[in-house]
Amino acid sequence: MGQPFVITTAIDYTNAPPHIGHAYEKILADVLARYHRSRGDDTWFLTGVDQHGQKVQQAAAREGITPAAFVEKITSRFTALWERLCISYDAWAATTDPRHVAVVREILADLYDRGDIYKAPYKGFYSVRQEQFLTDKERGPDGEFGPEWGEVIELEEENYYFRLTKYRDWLLALLDARSDLVTPAFRQTELRNAVEKVAGDLSISRPKKRLSWGIELPFDAGYVTYVWFDALVNYISFAGYPGRDPAAALASGAFRWPALHVIGKDILSPAHGVYWLAMLKAMGFPDEAMPRFLVHGFVMVDGEKMSKSLGNVRDPNVFVDRFGADAVRYFLMRDGAVGQDLDFTDERLVSRYNTDLANNLGNLLNRTLNMVHKYRGGVLAKPAAPLPDDFSARVTAYREAFDAHKVHLALEQALGIAADSNLLIEQEKPWALAKDPAQAARLDAVLYRLADSLRVAAILVAPVLPGPASAILSQIGWTGGASLADAVCGGIPDGHRLGVPSPVFPRIAPEEL
Ligand code: MSP
Repeated sequence: MGQPFVITTAIDYTNAPPHIGHAYEKILADVLARYHRSRGDDTWFLTGVDQHGQKVQQAAAREGITPAAFVEKITSRFTALWERLCISYDAWAATTDPRHVAVVREILADLYDRGDIYKAPYKGFYSVRQEQFLTDKERGPDGEFGPEWGEVIELEEENYYFRLTKYRDWLLALLDARSDLVTPAFRQTELRNAVEKVAGDLSISRPKKRLSWGIELPFDAGYVTYVWFDALVNYISFAGYPGRDPAAALASGAFRWPALHVIGKDILSPAHGVYWLAMLKAMGFPDEAMPRFLVHGFVMVDGEKMSKSLGNVRDPNVFVDRFGADAVRYFLMRDGAVGQDLDFTDERLVSRYNTDLANNLGNLLNRTLNMVHKYRGGVLAKPAAPLPDDFSARVTAYREAFDAHKVHLALEQALGIAADSNLLIEQEKPWALAKDPAQAARLDAVLYRLADSLRVAAILVAPVLPGPASAILSQIGWTGGASLADAVCGGIPDGHRLGVPSPVFPRIAPEEL
């Protein structure tokens, strides 16, 4: 076991069912978790749902059911989808869970005792849709609040505030000292600029008369907790943090922390990069226990942002029905760099799947098994003089890419091994070697290399394609280890018998689109 690896995603809002953007983030985190498990790291993957807040209360009211019944219904849509997409999370964070509620209240009480939460009146413009007070910087060029804010009302109320401004200079110093906090690096620069502009404290309460669907403040029963303050705490409440005394919790060994938070670009600043880091500091977390952030781009649909008003919100289930979970997982991980936006189109998905999986990896599997059965009765001979130029350089590049969260480049290396092997078949022409008894040893060496490369390629694609990877390993008769340490050239023993081929990546006919 190496360094522990704790990974989380954002917890998804339960005011509406999941879309393809939610699926992208979940698959990305799942793939990283599976890669770390394959490396032998002590891996723990937390994900879940954000169940409180005004949007949920409003959506439930529109349907004429209670918020509790509403979130239960939407939550089951998320869990069913994660099962279909093979998301291997270790723990589930649902913010109505009584354990979470207790920890949020404990943290609030602690911060209140320390004087980091205070009560003050406030009057201003308020966006009902975004659940936040608006300032002049939210006004458009015409001086109005744009349609993205929905209904804007003028509101005066007393609320509780968290002393965010007290932590501004500390946060700037932290960002300067720890250049590794945010990936990609330009997002850390963006965050630093946002921290410099922090001017006011954060309202962390909502009066119950306006919003009742939330966690009641421990020191004032007239209020519930602002949904972000509640939601961010999931990362520690479900990881074993009891609500006070971070030093003791960190020393106990029972608290899975610090985490790598996988989040979209819209919620780094201010929610995670400002509020969350300041909250942890206020609770007494040391600088070395601050989490890191992997910030991904957005999935766009046919070049446009998904939105209800454009009517282009994509249900991932439709893609799973049509193309299967493997094709969806592969496409989302292969088609763009983490950090950049990715355009989702049916054509690109099908073309990636057919080119890389059906024609390259799938074809190699089929050709190799057929040739070994035809020329050697299904049995491999381990060559005394193996072919030069093994694939270890690609395995090293794969590891480096994954360690830098560059999943698409890691996949390029894994599939590159299969492409190299297909090329080897064209160069060596096993069908010609088989006709010449003087070339028997050469044929053995080529067939061995092909099967061994399939074994290694299957191990390397496993984080993204767990099902197909085990199908490939089972067809080549591999029952040995399948972790990253096993991805070395020459692992198959002499006399190994291969299984029977059956298609793992059936081609998707583009005309079906
Ligand atoms: N509930 C908050 C997060 C609280 S975390 C303590 C939230 N929920 S969300 O449902 O709106 O978004 C969940 C995640 O999905 C976020 O990381 C967000 O960036 C991501 N995405 C939302 N739309 C997306 C795309 N179109 N593409 C990729 N990711 C997207 O924010």
